[in-house]
Amino acid sequence: MATKPTKATITFDNDTAPIELPVLSGTLGNDVIDIRTLGKHGVYTYDPGFLSTGSCRSDITYINGEEGLLYHRGYPIEQLAENCNFLEVAHLLIKGELPNTTEKQKFGNAIQHHTLLHDQMDNVFRGFRRDAHPMAVMISVVGAMAAFHPEHTNVTEPDLRELAAIRLLAKVPTIAAWSYKFTIGQPFIYPQNKLSYAENFLHMMFATPCEDYVVSPILAKAFERILILHADHEQNASTSTVRLVGSSGANPFACIAAGIASLWGPAHGGANEATLKMLDEIGDVSRIGEYIKRAKDKTDSFRLMGFGHRVYRNMDPRAAIMRTTCHEVLNELGLHDDPMFKLAMALEKIAVEDEYFVKRKLYPNVDFYSGIVMRAMGIPNSMFTAIFALARTAGWIAQWDEMISDPEQRIGRPRQLYTGNMKREFLPLNQRD
Ligand code: SDX
Repeated sequence: MATKPTKATITFDNDTAPIELPVLSGTLGNDVIDIRTLGKHGVYTYDPGFLSTGSCRSDITYINGEEGLLYHRGYPIEQLAENCNFLEVAHLLIKGELPNTTEKQKFGNAIQHHTLLHDQMDNVFRGFRRDAHPMAVMISVVGAMAAFHPEHTNVTEPDLRELAAIRLLAKVPTIAAWSYKFTIGQPFIYPQNKLSYAENFLHMMFATPCEDYVVSPILAKAFERILILHADHEQNASTSTVRLVGSSGANPFACIAAGIASLWGPAHGGANEATLKMLDEIGDVSRIGEYIKRAKDKTDSFRLMGFGHRVYRNMDPRAAIMRTTCHEVLNELGLHDDPMFKLAMALEKIAVEDEYFVKRKLYPNVDFYSGIVMRAMGIPNSMFTAIFALARTAGWIAQWDEMISDPEQRIGRPRQLYTGNMKREFLPLNQRD
């Protein structure tokens, strides 16, 4: 077996002296060239989108895009999705280990007793128009938490970081559900501490003061799985946003609000909502060919939403689990013959056999199936990314806390390749007309 490199040398095709750089190895995955000293030589790298750049060391999540692997603290996602509830996975991500019985009870109890929002936060919701997108409301209300819990501007105190984590895990479901209730003109439904995390959220989403609402155990289990599958995913766009915002010492609520903002984009967490909008636009199996053609047309900005991934060049392991959950929920709800779901399954079949997608290794991703499951559960499109954000809050907290605790951590400050004007003299207005 070839020995692993320990050094890399950059040589130049002029008289610039070669630069020797160390090669670092992790426990799994690719080695990296440590380029931190390049700046001292007046040399910088260029990597738009950071496709070839490691931004940090992390112990939290490992992804292997070629083999379609996803581990959280070493545990394969398939095993976690099968055997855990969301709070156990959140504990694993944030504290590094699955909880024992006492830790599980203490963690769950702490979260249950922080689910209420400060009563005046009600007013933050009411500043919006009723047609506001729930993500816009969530970004604002999560950010506003810093005004109601100002002690968390201190990010160096571990106990305060732990309390911020509890408050976020506890209150983001309430904020997400109330962001929805506000837009449909229904009264806010308060959290019920006797319910599980998933049951509590679904109850706040669908209950009304007029009658009781009992959450289906099958749907609660499916929802827990949706949360687990979306909990963390290494250094994706929104997690990198949280880390960069946090690197300045910003409070955790500002960091998570920034993560929610980044996740909202249709190329990222907005893809599940965009997938359902695309299916609604396609409308009928007979029109799939037209849209597959558009997806291949480089002059058309249309992308087949819910397909492809920046890292996975194999099936997204989460998508495989979500696909199974999707069929379980459709069976439970008797929706397998629903035209929209039949259309989705037909699109999936055609795309995974089409040469263009096969050659580019564009498989259905987690967002393709999660949107279908949530639509089947009666969750409106506008809430899909809000639910993604609710789940990813656990991963963002874990990544933020790891970044703060990292002795190598410093404020993020990427460089650039300047391609603007050379120096020029000011031109007075009368010479500009
Ligand atoms: C998430 O990073 C993460 O981990 C994200 C995430 C997480 O958990 O945090 O996994 C969540 O964001 C999942 C991805 C959800 N996004 C979508 O479903 C939107 C649709 N997908 C595409 O926008 C796209 O696939 C991206 C944005 C996901 C990836 O974009 P890339 O890296 O530019 O895609 P690529 O380099 O793999 O593309 C290779 C080729 C290109 O064509 P060629 O230039 O080679 O001819 O595939 C084409 C692309 O144009 N392509 C698509 C396509 N995705 C890529 N063509 C049609 N439809 C698509 N969906």
